[in-house]
Amino acid sequence: MPGDLPTDQLTTKGHEVLDWIAEYLEHPERYPVLSSARPGDIKASLPTSPPEHPESLDDILAEFESKIIPGITHWNHPSFFGYFATSSSVPGILAEMLVAALDVKAMLWKTSPAATELEEVVTSWLRQMLGLSDGWFGITTDTASISTMIALGAAREARPELQIRERGMAGRTDLPRLRVYCSPHAHSSVDKGAIALGIGLENVVKIDDDENFRMRPDALAEAIAADRAAGHLPLACVATVGTTGMTSIDPVPAIATICRRERVWLHVDGAYGGVLAIVPEYRHILDGVEAADSLVVNPHKWLFTPFDCSALFLKRPDILRRAFSLVPEFLTTREQNEVVNYMDYGVQLGRRFRALKLWMIIRAFGVRGLADRLREHCKLAQTFARWVEADPDWELLAPVPFSLVCFRYAPADTSEPERDRLNEEIMHAVNAGGEVFLSHTKLQSRFTLRLAIGNIRTEERHVALAWDRLRSAALTRGRSEGAHAK
Ligand SMILES: Cc1ncc(COP(=O)(O)O)c(C=O)c1O
Repeated sequence: MPGDLPTDQLTTKGHEVLDWIAEYLEHPERYPVLSSARPGDIKASLPTSPPEHPESLDDILAEFESKIIPGITHWNHPSFFGYFATSSSVPGILAEMLVAALDVKAMLWKTSPAATELEEVVTSWLRQMLGLSDGWFGITTDTASISTMIALGAAREARPELQIRERGMAGRTDLPRLRVYCSPHAHSSVDKGAIALGIGLENVVKIDDDENFRMRPDALAEAIAADRAAGHLPLACVATVGTTGMTSIDPVPAIATICRRERVWLHVDGAYGGVLAIVPEYRHILDGVEAADSLVVNPHKWLFTPFDCSALFLKRPDILRRAFSLVPEFLTTREQNEVVNYMDYGVQLGRRFRALKLWMIIRAFGVRGLADRLREHCKLAQTFARWVEADPDWELLAPVPFSLVCFRYAPADTSEPERDRLNEEIMHAVNAGGEVFLSHTKLQSRFTLRLAIGNIRTEERHVALAWDRLRSAALTRGRSEGAHAK
């Protein structure tokens, strides 16, 4: 009878794989941070059809190293400073192995009581770590994008008179336009949520920001009033704590006051920045969130949890349940009225056992240990920002409230278009060097370099290396520009 591979292969190959992982984490500099693969390279190195007969794990693992690794951009590298830097961690990796072995689907309490109850426990731990009251219900999802989408689904269900769950939205002349508000710097997942829920991109209203890239509450109030006058229904507002481009913080207390007054669902997107509230002196970043309806934070961004793990908190989980619960006969259980069945709170049926890794990470580092690491990342960002400020040829382009620095090379004698071109060239040159990776955005139409610190193994020497490589690239560009001009 054909079955699984013998478990002794797991033992022998498992040890080899663990050794590989330990070496990988210990000496990441063996690999360029950014893969130098060109489009199609990896596919071209692999057979186009599957093997008819079994192949040995030795061969497969050898090809993992020779064919797959060259196409990997090393997110887990301490000199990965792009997008939002993230990392896994030793307890997180161990937990993932156990999760793969158990292969649990955390959908009904019955389909693994421990998976459900541990999720209740760790989301409650995380809630307490963030300084939130015990009135919040927590659920893990795969990503903040999905957390935000289902929060908007709950916002829609908070208006049962619309009967959207039963009747849908298409072809109905009795429905007003449903409006969702956010700043121009809100993550694109808000727009995608609106697409997925049939709200439509035209109904995502971008509210003006202030000089520090924060949503303006007066502009929000005006937009809501204008929408009401036009017969639209103000449904939800998404405020961001730590926007993707430059980590600005929308003024949640003032926004919450307006949302309460206007009966607008307030969702707070703290996907990256929210976890910093576990550090006592940064707790204030979640000020006002108690008055919100939902909040998302991503342990897989800045809490050393291997992808994926997003945590969604809701004040009124019954509304989310009303939006998505659907229990066919084969999923009914005797205890369904006494327990949480997490499948009731989203679109997915089968759900990963994410709680195990969060549990192991919180225990292995302790709340203080996690806070110390986040604090250190913020300190490193401040150090880098000071280096930038101290060099007359460089400038900061946004405040640094978290661990992201937005900056650019801007020598006095260069025009704006030249600066854009120079910074783009500097970024590509540094990234091509393979030692460091950073990404960019545009702030006020200016090409902006972003250095994001979030990897658990990042030390000052990594940040110093990035600064050194950036300055060298700038000097080289400056020299060749000069030579070119002559
Ligand atoms: C503020 C913010 N919200 C949401 C997201 C989306 O996160 P995810 O990849 O978990 O969907 C991001 C991603 O960087 C983000 O920065």
